[in-house]
Amino acid sequence: MVSQLHYHSSFLVSLACLVILFEIPPCLGSVEDYTACNIQFKCGTITAGFPFWGDDRPEGCGHPKLLLNCSESNTTMEIMNIKYRILSLNSGTQTLRIAREDYLNGPCPSKVLSSTTLDDELFDYGPDYRNLTLHYGCPANSLSATNPGYFPCTIDGTNNRDAYAALDASTDILGLCSTTVVVPILAIVTSSQDFTNFSKVEEALRRGFDVKWKVDNEECKDCMGSNGACGYDSSSNQTTCYCKDQSSGSRTCSPSGTCQ
Ligand SMILES: *[C@@H]1O[C@H](CO)[C@@H](O)[C@H](O)[C@H]1NC(C)=O
Ligand SMILES: *[C@@H]1O[C@H](CO)[C@@H](O)[C@H](O)[C@H]1NC(C)=O
Ligand SMILES: *[C@@H]1O[C@H](CO)[C@@H](O)[C@H](O)[C@H]1NC(C)=O
Ligand SMILES: *[C@@H]1O[C@H](CO)[C@@H](O)[C@H](O)[C@H]1NC(C)=O
Ligand SMILES: *[C@@H]1O[C@H](CO)[C@@H](O)[C@H](O)[C@H]1NC(C)=O
Repeated sequence: MVSQLHYHSSFLVSLACLVILFEIPPCLGSVEDYTACNIQFKCGTITAGFPFWGDDRPEGCGHPKLLLNCSESNTTMEIMNIKYRILSLNSGTQTLRIAREDYLNGPCPSKVLSSTTLDDELFDYGPDYRNLTLHYGCPANSLSATNPGYFPCTIDGTNNRDAYAALDASTDILGLCSTTVVVPILAIVTSSQDFTNFSKVEEALRRGFDVKWKVDNEECKDCMGSNGACGYDSSSNQTTCYCKDQSSGSRTCSPSGTCQ
């Protein structure tokens, strides 16, 4: 009798376990992710949460490629191996205003670099941009100093020290210059003038351009709406939600602060 009862109850327990195993989504405990991902990245005038990480905000709280770096109150970020300064961040419109770090002091950097390309999995251009094209390595005196956009710039240690900036035109009108770099700029900076005034070129590079990040925010909104903290699961490459009891694995947290 006793053993039969025992048999029955352990059978029921096993059955209950199976039901639990198959019906409940995998709520996994994790190491302090909820606490960690509630911390915002703060640097100078920039504050960022999901989908960014960096500094006090650990890996796992943002997309692996959206790493921010804080140095002397300046925020920088790399996109396709080019370093950009983050001038402002608007999480409502998912927009960053960024400027190329190498061009912050003008269009003649110590070494000539590559054109801007965006990682199109992650970013789109903002609505109001134009391409500024910088042509380097033109033979000395091939351009008059009064040419619009002309500036002297020695690159690669050659005597080809003429350079010029032009809007949109990615083809060298002279056909003599060795290097072309395309950098996006805000359309408003250039709307009313060409580059006869060279300080406009410097200004355009300093003011940067807008990019919109594409990482879906809906899932994160649901998570935050349930008092969870958003993160990024790099094994599934998906947004994830960390709950107060440090569990994760569902889109939202229950009112008691656990994964559901
Ligand atoms: C952050 O930027 C500084 C200054 O540019 C640089 O020295 C440092 O290596 C960067 N850190 C990371 C993690 O990229
Ligand atoms: C950024 O860093 C430079 C030094 O590299 C410093 O002169 C400048 O004030 C910093 N910008 C801000 C906004 O703190
Ligand atoms: C800017 O140049 C890139 C290629 O370098 C091109 O894909 C893009 O369409 C250009 N945008 C504008 C507004 O001309
Ligand atoms: C060139 O542009 C700068 C900045 O917009 C302005 O301060 C300066 O007066 C202009 N110079 C000339 C000669 O137009
Ligand atoms: C996640 O992304 C990495 C790198 O892009 C890739 O190697 C991996 O296969 C992806 N995993 C899944 C589950 O999609």
